[in-house]
Amino acid sequence: MGAALALNIAEKGFPIAVFNRSPGRTRTFFAEAGDLAPRVVPCETLEAFVAAIAAPRIVIVMVTAGTPVDDQIAVLRPLLGPDDLLIDCGNADFHDTERRSAAAASGGPAFMGVGVSGGEEGARHGPSIMAGGTEAAWAKVAPVFTAIAAKYEGEPCAAQMGPGGAGHFVKTVHNGIEYADMEMIAEVYGVMRQGLGLDPAAIAAVFERWNRGPLASYLIEISAIVAATLDPETGRPLLDVIVDSAGQKGTGRWTVIEAQMLGAPVTAVEAAVAARNLSARREERRLGAEIFGTPAGNPPDVTVEALENALLAGKILCYAQGFGLLSTAAREFGWTLPLPTIARIWRAGCIIRSTLLGDMAQALAATPGADLTHVAPFTDILRRTEGDLRRVVAAAALAGLPVPALAAALAHFDTMRRVRGTADLIQGQRDFFGAHGFERVDHPGAHHGPWTRS
Ligand code: 6PG
Repeated sequence: MGAALALNIAEKGFPIAVFNRSPGRTRTFFAEAGDLAPRVVPCETLEAFVAAIAAPRIVIVMVTAGTPVDDQIAVLRPLLGPDDLLIDCGNADFHDTERRSAAAASGGPAFMGVGVSGGEEGARHGPSIMAGGTEAAWAKVAPVFTAIAAKYEGEPCAAQMGPGGAGHFVKTVHNGIEYADMEMIAEVYGVMRQGLGLDPAAIAAVFERWNRGPLASYLIEISAIVAATLDPETGRPLLDVIVDSAGQKGTGRWTVIEAQMLGAPVTAVEAAVAARNLSARREERRLGAEIFGTPAGNPPDVTVEALENALLAGKILCYAQGFGLLSTAAREFGWTLPLPTIARIWRAGCIIRSTLLGDMAQALAATPGADLTHVAPFTDILRRTEGDLRRVVAAAALAGLPVPALAAALAHFDTMRRVRGTADLIQGQRDFFGAHGFERVDHPGAHHGPWTRS
């Protein structure tokens, strides 16, 4: 990622010094820089790297999240001056970024935590950039970041999100949405494959078709390519030789943890993270299949069109949850997160880019603070598609096909349009066993029940 970002920066006309702890990698990088080599200064020591940059310096750190970032800052700080700027462009936990920003505020180079999305390809040719830090720091780096960012109809997909950890928080939520989006696509893939019996080539054709409709997005586009790809070794669909156990580096989990701490519902993301966790339990799944069998059942009574609508409804609900989490975080942390701008800079470059994000940006700008599902055109789309979401979730359940993220999105939808829920019983239970009290619908104040056990 660091190498790709460096080439992107050089390509946009900025001279750049590069350093890697393994000098061999720096040499290989320089040897492969081609036409861009004249703008690149390869450095084999940190001292040479810092000396190669004219002050005031902008230094980007791209290392594994966590302690390696602190270690890198610790060795760089003494070499940099108070006018220099140190930027962590990795996927950091925003609490770490807050801590590093606070430490930087007490002296030495300024610090920014910047979320960069788009994978290797995005970093090289145009990522989406979610910057955290002071206005002054943003003003220094904006020319570089807007130049290297993806462009949507000419508009750079780079913006300042807010102070301290705001950029990394927004990137974390982006990744949480990414997890849910990917999981929902995998769930409809499961219904098509294991329920309707479509082969990967047919599923690839379905994804390709969907990519020309309202679901058009990078993730649907690459799902079509993944489903259509054959294994060069066996000639079988590549999907059939990939172990069905999903990896994760932690950003989805961070989204869930932060949402729980803030009391913000991101149930589709929670389901997606849990699904990845379960996917890793291969031996337990094998044992479960041995004991209970895998339901063969009747194929689910759903059409591919119903699946498309279900995915659309699920996706809208999941994005509504993601933007809801951003709103809650902004209130809690005193940030002014620019929600319409966030939707706009996600329209290109990042992993969750999709046509829906354009409408989301407009809706968030037109009705600030509103739940996305309450705003046009999403209210109408949900009215039109919720029946299919319900049919797909019900049919999948009857066929024994797990669709946890779609089911979570549907439960959220059904919960959030019910004036009277079922927590009256929970309040009664709490008061019964712990005298926690409850509010009454008819008079104010805390009340207790006249509980008796017969
Ligand atoms: C992006 C991606 C990127 C990376 C994640 C994947 O926006 O470019 O989200 O950050 O692919 O680290 O995370 P997992 O390994 O957790 O799936």
